[in-house]
Amino acid sequence: MSLVVDNVSKEYPTRSGTLSVLRGVSLKLDRGDAVAVMGPSGSGKSTLLHILGTLDRPTGGKVALDGTNPFALTEPELASFRNARIGFVFQDHHLLPQCSVLENVLIPTLVNTTVPAAETEAYARQLLDRVGLGGRLDHRPAELSGGERQRVAVARALVLKPTLLLADEPTGNLDRTNAQSVGELLMQLHQQERNVLVVVTHSAELAKLLPRRFEMNDGTLQAV
Ligand SMILES: Nc1ncnc2c1ncn2[C@@H]1O[C@H](COP(=O)(O)OP(=O)(O)OP(=O)(O)O)[C@@H](O)[C@H]1O
Ligand SMILES: [Mg+2]
Repeated sequence: MSLVVDNVSKEYPTRSGTLSVLRGVSLKLDRGDAVAVMGPSGSGKSTLLHILGTLDRPTGGKVALDGTNPFALTEPELASFRNARIGFVFQDHHLLPQCSVLENVLIPTLVNTTVPAAETEAYARQLLDRVGLGGRLDHRPAELSGGERQRVAVARALVLKPTLLLADEPTGNLDRTNAQSVGELLMQLHQQERNVLVVVTHSAELAKLLPRRFEMNDGTLQAV
């Protein structure tokens, strides 16, 4: 299990010329590694995370996840690769308001037919227990606090046991206490599952929980 990012660049054509957002980013992470990516607004952090998550394609350079170049796959192959290997936690929880907590966690499993439904549901219940929401399975997102919603989002990201867990400002909308507990939860589940974790954050407190830290500056990434 590994993530290799080699000299990745990302450019956008704009009316006022080409905008270079990533300028030769390289990174190698192995199973069990966890890193924080900090840096100023507009420096390219989310762009990098979207490329790692195969939601966006690099303009140059290489990405390999478990030895596979995801960008060489066809669209349907890429969609199932992403679903099976990559978990996402965003700043906004993106839970479906009409679905219960348990149903929300099960959403990624609906398109993945390789694991039996009974098995994934048992695992979803176990994850919700581990994030402290075992008693809230039938609640709708509107009936939860912000921190609780984000914990559901963490459980949903982990339900298919991804190799790579990506989080973009996962505590950005939370107060200090909730931010701390969601951060600790992410780390705890990461350590138990031994995935590769990449957390983009403006929070020095959250970054401190991660064993390795990088800073993005104007499209280049440096260890700090
Ligand atoms: N589709 C696009 N077309 C043109 N420019 C874009 C596009 N998407 C992002 N950018 C530019 O790329 C730069 C990096 O954006 P990105 O979202 O990666 O920043 P960030 O480091 O995540 O910032 P923040 O901390 O504010 O979330 C920004 O200057 C942004 O305007
Ligand atoms: Mg961003």
